[in-house]
Amino acid sequence: MKTNNNIGIIGTGSYLPKKIMTNYDLEKIVDTSDEWIYTRTGIKERRIAEGESTSDLAFKAGLKAIESAGIDRDEIDMIIVATMSPDQPTPATACLVQKKLGCRQIPSFDISAACSGFIYGLSMAYAYISSGLCKKILLIGAEKMSSIIDWEDRSTCVLFGDGAGAVVVGEVDNEGILGFSLGSDGSGAEKLIVPSGGSVLPITKERLEKRENYIKMNGSDIFKFAVKKLPEIANNILKELDMRTEELDYMIPHQANIRIIDSANKKLKLGKEKILVNLNKYGNMSAASIPVALDESIDSKKIKKNDTILLIGFGGGLTWGTSVLKSSI
Ligand code: ACO
Repeated sequence: MKTNNNIGIIGTGSYLPKKIMTNYDLEKIVDTSDEWIYTRTGIKERRIAEGESTSDLAFKAGLKAIESAGIDRDEIDMIIVATMSPDQPTPATACLVQKKLGCRQIPSFDISAACSGFIYGLSMAYAYISSGLCKKILLIGAEKMSSIIDWEDRSTCVLFGDGAGAVVVGEVDNEGILGFSLGSDGSGAEKLIVPSGGSVLPITKERLEKRENYIKMNGSDIFKFAVKKLPEIANNILKELDMRTEELDYMIPHQANIRIIDSANKKLKLGKEKILVNLNKYGNMSAASIPVALDESIDSKKIKKNDTILLIGFGGGLTWGTSVLKSSI
């Protein structure tokens, strides 16, 4: 979908918990090695939140985004938190963030689209603002993945990390967000799943013993899905917006595995220097990975005003989402 309003990102922020867990630390927990993790994924270390919940991470990133936008918290009309590791199934983590930020009694809710959550949230923020229902929306991707991974399962626990990235979406003085494309395929739902804890398999002692309250993932199927989908959806949105790959200054893909990113880049022929990667430092932070990379690249002045950026998310659901925007800051 091509957009035609001057709506974009007016502020960014991120927060990473202090504790660093390296691949060597993981060698002491499960039967793995730095060599296996690094060569298979590109991950060297990740952050782990101790004594902080998802809403704490989200609050700290959100506060920085509001400060970066140079606005008062009372100007925020809505809070959206994209997460697959909420504080609790209910209330929404966004409501806890609303309280921690001391915002007005504005609508606040979570969305669940796994690693595509930030792009889904961006499209919702865009839609609310372009319809006139809101002027400024705080959108946060926040995850405490360490609370939903099985620390006895080496095939998943080495992949994920904790963190939060946030943006304030509002009216901008350039083109801002140029378009979106989102999709899902529920036939792949079981490929990345937390089986127990919902209405199908409520938590019982037996299910806890079987560790069904943690993420189960078919890594190789997700890998194949991502390798195929990433270049396909990138090309689709460029076609829809009548743009060429060369017009992109940067691409921020979801940070799951460097081999997925490299394989997509081979097909897209974007150039390694245009792809922003942080998974070596943070692992897969699901909905937080894109906004954290965006914030760090804007903060370090790598991304400059009017740079054209392609954001790509993919993950559990299965879901995917892309957006192209002109940086407004
Ligand atoms: N350390 C050492 N050995 C391991 C580890 C580990 N941490 N994990 C698995 N292995 C072993 C396996 O047991 C297997 O051994 P076997 O051959 O004796 O059976 C071997 O390594 C190979 O395992 P594979 O699963 O085939 O390894 P692969 O090369 O596919 O890499 C990986 C696995 C990294 C998980 C990859 O499949 C991947 O990145 N998949 C995508 C995951 C992803 O993107 N998930 C997130 C989606 S986003 C979201 O929505 C949250």
